[in-house]
Order: sequence, then C-alpha cells, then structure tokens
Amino acid sequence: MIESTIYNCSVIGLNKIHERSGNITVVENIRNIPFEVKRIYYLYDVPGGAERGGHAHKALKQLIVAASGCFDVVLNDGQNKKVVELNRPYYGLYVVPGIWREVINFSSGAICLVLASEKYDKEDYLREYSNFLEWKAL
Ligand code: TYD
Repeated sequence: MIESTIYNCSVIGLNKIHERSGNITVVENIRNIPFEVKRIYYLYDVPGGAERGGHAHKALKQLIVAASGCFDVVLNDGQNKKVVELNRPYYGLYVVPGIWREVINFSSGAICLVLASEKYDKEDYLREYSNFLEWKAL
C-alpha cells in the first residue's frame, strides 16, 4: 500500500536531451517514473481563470507535466496542502492515490499532460470533498 500524503508526492526531474534544433524529453515506464503508464491524456485550450481537477482518485497514480506553459497544482491529503508550480516540460509531478487535487492558474496556451497508471474508471474518482474526507478516514 502506497502512503498517501502530500509528502509522498514529488517533483521528478526528467531528462532533457538538448539539441540546437530543440529539446526532447523521454519518459519510460518504471525506468524514470514509479509506475507503468496505461493511459495518457492532456488538457489544453483551458480558458483564463478556469480550474480543473477538484477530485481525488482511489487507486490512480499520475505524473503531471506542463508540456507547455505553466499552471499550479494544489495537493491536499485532507490534513495538509501544498501548491506545486509546474512550468517546465522536463519536470513531472508524481501524485500518489488518495490526494485531492486542483489545477489552477493556467497560463495562456498551457498544456497539462497526464500520464496515468490505469485506464479510465469513473468508479476510481472521489468527486465530493466530504466523500474524500470520509474515504481518507476509513
Ligand atoms: P476529469 O478527470 O474530471 O477532468 P479534470 O480533472 O481535468 O477536471 O474529466 C473530465 C471529463 O472527461 C469527465 O467527463 C470524464 C472525461 N474523461 C474520460 O472520459 N476519460 C479520461 O481518461 C479522462 C481523464 C476524463
């Protein structure tokens, strides 16, 4: 069982292969992230002032990357909160299961790339904060 506090969530430095013609970052299962990726999705065209997230996952692990632009991820384990600013495509925020997250302050043109450990499962979501706190107390 993975511990599920904000202190178990961390920013992982990804490699950056620099070339004069541009940079490339490679993410490989297990090798540089602590889970196997089963799904990738990305948020884009987020209107100014919009907030995403506002939920927790029971089992899903994620790596969140600002593939372009920047945004803030607010992590909350029911007891403590921290805000992580993501603004470089060669850093990923590893989010363990059981963390309430909000994604805010999107810059114009930001792309929020998410690598996820499981396929989409709506039953894995805790969408009500009160349910999240009850679930954490189990
Ligand atoms: P949601 O996870 O709530 O987005 P966010 O955390 O960015 O606010 O998902 C938004 C909608 O997209 C919701 O109706 C579910 C749907 N969705 C899928 O169908 N498959 C997926 O893999 C994801 C991530 C979302």
